[in-house]
This record gives sequence, structure tokens and C-alpha cells, in this order.
Amino acid sequence: MSVLSFDLDAALDRLATDGWVVIPHALPAELTAALRDSCLDVWQQGQFHEAATGRADGQARRSEIRGDSVLWLDRVATLPAVAQYQAAMDELMTAVNRGLYLGLAELESHFAVYPAGTFYKRHLDRFRDDDARTLTTVFYLNQDWPHDAGGQIRFYLDEGSDNFIDIEPEAGTLVLFLSDRFWHEVLPARQQRLSVTGWYRRRGGSVPW
Ligand code: OGA
Ligand code: MN
Repeated sequence: MSVLSFDLDAALDRLATDGWVVIPHALPAELTAALRDSCLDVWQQGQFHEAATGRADGQARRSEIRGDSVLWLDRVATLPAVAQYQAAMDELMTAVNRGLYLGLAELESHFAVYPAGTFYKRHLDRFRDDDARTLTTVFYLNQDWPHDAGGQIRFYLDEGSDNFIDIEPEAGTLVLFLSDRFWHEVLPARQQRLSVTGWYRRRGGSVPW
């Protein structure tokens, strides 16, 4: 039975039309909670490392761009909640390929922890030297995220800086968007912010993975 707990056809329609979609309650609440617990466990075990920016910036400049720490899911793939998440996202990949012909081949994803006070400045997800990243997935893990805690993803609907929406990083919400098309940023979070961020990749990017 499918673990995707939303209207898949409606979501794929939005994605095909707009290039992005926000899906609340995308997975069963128990799985989302288990994933949050797993994230916190491995965080407390000190398994995370500070995220890189994909450029040769020095350490000092990096935190001016992004302040999160990450742990790739392939390092913790045996955790049951992680395995279930990967299975759900595999199912989603199959559906997206069937509906949108994006030719997605695999998902790379990581837990991300933004400690209080951190952010990620406006950026595009596709690296200049690697065009395999095709569809970005962000899944949020904080239950009852307070609106005044900041930490929203500010999602720009076009290249300019005026036309945007802010999405609360509330547990269960899944955001999907075409990686090369939409600028976005993470506004400063006033409390610890937890998510799983990933990229579905096409085969044949210019950098082998
Ligand atoms: C990223 C990113 C957005 C978010 O990790 O590239 O933009 O809401 N994350 O966590
Ligand atoms: Mn991003």
C-alpha cells in the first residue's frame, strides 16, 4: 500500500503546470514523527557536519551564506524511519517520471539542522558545474512550528525579488520544485529547524556521481 498520504494526481498536475508544489501532510504523521526522532538522535550523536556551499568559499564566508549542518541519508539508511522515507520518495519518483517525463534516476538527500539564528541566503540549487539535479524536495520535521519563529522558506516565483511566497517549515509539509528554475532562501530561524532536503537527479549530469 502507498505510504504517500496525499492526492498524487493533483500534486503532479500542479508540478507540471507551475514547476513547483507545496504538499501539507505528505506522509503519515507517525512516519514524520519517527523521522524527526531519528534526526534528533543522530544530531545528538554528533554525526552531522557543516554544510558546504558548492563553491570554493572559505569557512568564514560560508556561514554568511548558510548556517545549517547536514547528514546524508545514505549514512543512516538502516534506520527504519529513514528506510521508509526513502521508499516513499522512490514511489514519488516513479509517479513523477510517469507523469512529467523528467527522467529522474535517483535521490540524494540529507537531514538538515538549522541551529537558532541560522539561515540560508537566496540561491538556486543547481550547481553551475553539475546539471543532474532536477527536482528539489524539502520535507519539514518540526511539529507546531510557531509563526513568529521565522525559518520560512521564501520561494521566489520568478527571477526578480518581489514576487515570492513564504512557506512555514511545519512537520509533514513537502515542497517540490524544479531545481534550476526557482530562487529561494531560508529566513533566519529563531529556534532549531529540522528538515530533510534532497534532489532527484537525472542520469548523465556533467559530473559523475
Ligand atoms: C537547501 C534549501 C530549503 C529549506 O538546502 O538547498 O534551500 O527550506 N533548503 O530547508
Ligand atoms: Mn536550496
